[in-house]
Amino acid sequence: MTSITPGRRRRPLVRRAAAVGAVALAVASLEPVAAAQAAPSPVVGGTPAAQNEFPFMVHLSMGCGGALYKKDVVLTAAHCVGGSGSTTRITVTAGVTDLNSTSAIKVKSTKVKRAPGYDGKGKDWALIKLAHPVNLPTLKIATNSRYNRGVFTVAGWGTTKETSHTGSTKLLKATVPYVPDSMCRWNYGNRLTPKDELCAGYPQGGVDTCQGDSGGPMFRKDDADHWIQVGIVSWGDGCARPGAPGIYTQVDTFAGDIARAAAAL
Ligand code: ARG
Repeated sequence: MTSITPGRRRRPLVRRAAAVGAVALAVASLEPVAAAQAAPSPVVGGTPAAQNEFPFMVHLSMGCGGALYKKDVVLTAAHCVGGSGSTTRITVTAGVTDLNSTSAIKVKSTKVKRAPGYDGKGKDWALIKLAHPVNLPTLKIATNSRYNRGVFTVAGWGTTKETSHTGSTKLLKATVPYVPDSMCRWNYGNRLTPKDELCAGYPQGGVDTCQGDSGGPMFRKDDADHWIQVGIVSWGDGCARPGAPGIYTQVDTFAGDIARAAAAL
């Protein structure tokens, strides 16, 4: 049995080091945008989610989000977990928007499967097996690229600005438009792995996922008007900065790997 150390970091550090020097500058430029928004925001620049609006959304105790892929399997980000193996250290909170709600469903993990070959660049996905199934709807994942366009919904319990250190106890949501890889390359250059990652955000910034939202889903409606997951919150330079879209794991690229890993978990 392999034992792992699940992510202890409140703010996973994956490829954020380069952004540090730019923080002071960007915070100043973010200010007018943030000031124009009504509080509270999610995620940065959003609004509270209604109970049952996103029943597949879960919170992970290491400070990440996730989505129910199966009733006993959560899809999250690789950088939220320490590796693959057996662990009961992660507590999954489901069925509520308010983490402090007495009706919260809390289930422990039994196993983690991190994307094979994960090295901090791309492949930012992982699965968490739950000690028992929860009776909540799951979120279907994209198996091809046709939904990698348009406007996406993101949700999470992360921070509401990049300078804050504590997340929200209430689930917050926002919508962000697709950004083509060609444009995203302008912002991130070779730090973007186009086939593994999707970008989303406004050119002027102001709305984005942020620290603590990692692992949570980015999703939209499919042609049958059902939610479908196209992304996993992964990283970005700061949060909601102009010219710095959020980077999401491109789910369709890994749909086969995820299905096989879930079946074997
Ligand atoms: N890495 C962050 C986390 O662990 C997510 C950052 C998302 N950043 C962004 N600008 N969209 O929670």
